[in-house]
Amino acid sequence: MLAVSEQEFELTDKDFKFIQWFMHKRVGIYLADTKRAMVYGRVSRQLRRRGLTRFKEYRALIENDEQECVHFINTLTTNKTQFFREIHHFEFLEKVVVEGWRSLGNTEIKIWSAGCSTGEEPYSIAATLWHAGAFEFAKSVKIFATDLDTQVLEHAKRGVYPEEALATIPKQYLRQCFMRGKEAQSGKIKVANRLQQFIQFQPINLIEPWSLPEQFDLIACRNVMIYFDKPTQEQILRRFHARLKPGGVLFLGHSEGLGGCSSLFHHLGQTIYVKM
Ligand SMILES: C[S@@+](CC[C@H](N)C(=O)[O-])C[C@H]1O[C@@H](n2cnc3c(N)ncnc32)[C@H](O)[C@@H]1O
Repeated sequence: MLAVSEQEFELTDKDFKFIQWFMHKRVGIYLADTKRAMVYGRVSRQLRRRGLTRFKEYRALIENDEQECVHFINTLTTNKTQFFREIHHFEFLEKVVVEGWRSLGNTEIKIWSAGCSTGEEPYSIAATLWHAGAFEFAKSVKIFATDLDTQVLEHAKRGVYPEEALATIPKQYLRQCFMRGKEAQSGKIKVANRLQQFIQFQPINLIEPWSLPEQFDLIACRNVMIYFDKPTQEQILRRFHARLKPGGVLFLGHSEGLGGCSSLFHHLGQTIYVKM
């Protein structure tokens, strides 16, 4: 790491503390001191873009301009994702959850992918439902896909990805759910319209009120709360619990758990939980 005096941009201890406080207050994300180099790298790009050299000047912008503020938050979030990430969730969805809905006669299915990043998660859910035949027996299927980061949501809505994304998509979904680009679009894949029509993308900050009118059969909130502190995680888990139908299913990310909310759900293993 460069010594402060050798750095191109000025980010003082006070600036870094402000960023830690600001991210926690606005989005619940706790940036540990060890993230300072990452923060410096990402903030530098914004300073360069605006022709500034000191974070202090940029701070004035983000405090007075909501759009710049959203842009700044987008810069500091981690959006890593992939199709069928943590594949056991999709296997469970197909073999157990959808079969349960079918046998119980649940024909109005509502799913929430909370913290969906660039869309691979909700599209993987839709492809799984397609393959499991859920669109045949259900009268209505709605998948809400939300994220704080407005830029990733734009990407998600397009549903276009580099061809390398195919590497994690199991063969059985390829023909029906994804199309290869041709000519100007070669080297890219696109999610089939027949899946896209079931997904509604919208910006939602999980630590603020949720403008979602529904009760859900399944909520997937994977690899999102890992960045939040414990009280924030528990508060959101209680709100998820209230938003699940009886017997509703919750998927968390591989290193996430229920903490103090374990009495609210049955744990079925592999970060799969059922509302009690
Ligand atoms: C690492 S990605 C996980 C994507 C996907 N769920 C998966 O597991 O592959 C985390 C996502 O959570 C979003 N996020 C972080 N804090 C959030 C908040 N307070 N409200 C909503 N989304 C948030 C980020 O913008 C990012 O896109």
